[in-house]
Order: sequence, then C-alpha cells, then structure tokens
Amino acid sequence: MKLLEVRNLKVFFPIKDKLFGKPDKFVKAVNDVSFHVEKGEIFSIVGESGSGKSTIAFTLMGIYRKNNGDIVFNGKKIENIGDFDLLRKRIQIVFQDPDSSLDPRKRVRDIIGEGLKIHKIGTKAEINRKIEDVVEKVGLTQDILKKYPHELSGGQKQRVGIARALILEPELLILDEPTASLDVSIQAQILNLLVELQERLGLTYILITHDLNLVKHISDRIMVMYLGKVMEIGSTAQIMSGPLHPYTKALLASVPVPDPEKRNEDEETLTGEIPSPLNPPEGCPFRPRCKYSMDDCWNELEPIEMKERIVFCHLYKEHENSGGV
Ligand SMILES: Nc1ncnc2c1ncn2[C@@H]1O[C@H](COP(=O)(O)OP(=O)(O)OP(=O)(O)O)[C@@H](O)[C@H]1O
Ligand SMILES: [Mg+2]
Repeated sequence: MKLLEVRNLKVFFPIKDKLFGKPDKFVKAVNDVSFHVEKGEIFSIVGESGSGKSTIAFTLMGIYRKNNGDIVFNGKKIENIGDFDLLRKRIQIVFQDPDSSLDPRKRVRDIIGEGLKIHKIGTKAEINRKIEDVVEKVGLTQDILKKYPHELSGGQKQRVGIARALILEPELLILDEPTASLDVSIQAQILNLLVELQERLGLTYILITHDLNLVKHISDRIMVMYLGKVMEIGSTAQIMSGPLHPYTKALLASVPVPDPEKRNEDEETLTGEIPSPLNPPEGCPFRPRCKYSMDDCWNELEPIEMKERIVFCHLYKEHENSGGV
C-alpha cells in the first residue's frame, strides 16, 4: 500500500539580483521528481551534495513551498495549509546534526514533549507518561529528562532527536543523514536502534544519505538523485548489484572499498565537478560528466520503466516498455 506519492514535484528557489532585489534566476533544487513510498518500507534517497534530497524532506514537512506537483499522503492530496498542518504531525524528521536541532536552553523533557504541546495532545500527566515511554524506547534512562543538551554525548543527543520525532507516533519518519555527525562507533548503535524501532513499531522511513554502505544494509528501495533530478529508482538489490544509470554506476564505484587494489579497473568513477545548480546542463544533468554521452542526451527524457524499476537515461530507450534490460 502506498503511504506517500510524490508526482512531478518542483521546488525552485529564487535568487535575487543584487541591484534591484528582484528574482532573476532560480535554483531548481527539485525539478520534476516523482516517487512513492510503500507503507512499512525503508525508502532511501541518495545523491551527492546539492542534489535536492533535503529540499524534498523540507517540502514534505511544509517548511518549503512547492512550485508544482502533487503530494498524496494516505490517498489524500495535500493542497492547503490545513493539509500541511496535518502532514506536519503525521511526518516527523530526524536531522543530521542534533547539536543545532536541539534547543540548548531547554531540558530534554521539554524538548521531547514539545510536539505534543504544539499539537495540543494530552493532559500534563499523559504527556509525562508518553515522554517517559519514548525515552525507554530509544534506549535512554529517565534521568536524562532533567538534563540540558550540552550535558549529553553525541549518541544521546541523536536518541533525544529520535524520541522527539517518535512521540507524535508519526506514520512516516524522515531521517536526513541521521548518523553523519556521529563517531563511527556510535553510528552503528543509532542505526541498529532505527532498524529495531522500524520493525517493532511498523514505521515507514525515508532515509536520506550520501552513504551507499549504509543504505545497502537497511533500505528496501533506493532513489538516486543528481542536480534536482531522479536518475533511477529500484530495489536495493537491483541498484547495488545492477545499476543502470551511468551516474549510479560511478557513484557506486566511488564508494571506498577495504582493498582498493581489488577494484575493477574498468569501473567508471566520478570525474569532473558538479555543474552550478543555477545553470544546470540541458537534458540529462549528468551529460557533461558521462562517458556515454551522445546527442540525444541534450533532450529532456521521460522515465523509462523496466521490471519494477525506473531509469532516466537515453541509453535504455530501446528497452522502453520491453520489460527487459
Ligand atoms: N533555502 C534555500 N535557498 C536557496 N537555495 C537553496 C535553499 N535550500 C537549498 N538550496 C539549494 O538547493 C539545492 C539542493 O539543496 P539540498 O539541500 O536539497 O541538497 P542535498 O541533496 O540535501 O545536499 P546535502 O547532501 O549537501 O545535504 C542546492 O543547490 C542548494 O544550494
Ligand atoms: Mg541535505
């Protein structure tokens, strides 16, 4: 069952010209992106910095406004402010850096309970009971509730961030680089906690990350993005062991391996710079960096669907609708 469906989403940021203050250019942070998330799955969004991953998250949360496209949550099209208010409760987010996302002036009890207060859920006693429950769920002890963020370790802070998101019993949890700011030894603990919570509470996650090693182990499906566009979508096994798009292939080949000498010499790694998002290439945005680039790649491309996967690449045009690769 589809929990979330995003169709042709566009989110553009105006860049004001210095002289007159009028927007004269746009960063097309998310440019015609479509995907869906199944109830109960871990759906990962991967791509290099600036590809538009967080912008999608912030737009789903109603923090950024969409320029175009549809967001459908639980079968309901999200259109007006009231719909987004509802979505803000049903979708919660865990940010990369707990240091900047936890208010340093508040005690942990107030940080975790804030969402319930904002949404006016429960009496004081009920709120306290929920806070104490969720603290246990994320593997913390009750004495943490009276502490301030600066008294906590990095891992504890991120557990507080997760507790704050979980207390509203969201249907969808967005994890935006949830382990990137943590020490390597703590990363695994937080990851295990997230996987355990997902299984135990039947949660649905959107996991946003640069780290392909991380998605490999825990996600069900992956969407690869580049400069605001989707490159391909498929199951984790399909993407990891049989990437189609040259960008995905290069991204996978750039993942550090324990023994670099064993790397296949033919593997294409990422070369060249990411073009400016203010002036993205016409057609396929990966075209200037792609070794298979051809004349066709200057043209816009419709999604090519093959065996439950979707790829945006002219190399596969002949396979369109053939059901095979
Ligand atoms: N509020 C904003 N105003 C203007 N431009 C923005 C804003 N937020 C994001 N952008 C631009 O939109 C593009 C996509 O940014 P976004 O933060 O979504 O990328 P990302 O994939 O999350 O990157 P990272 O991996 O570095 O977090 C970038 O070019 C970024 O500079
Ligand atoms: Mg981001």
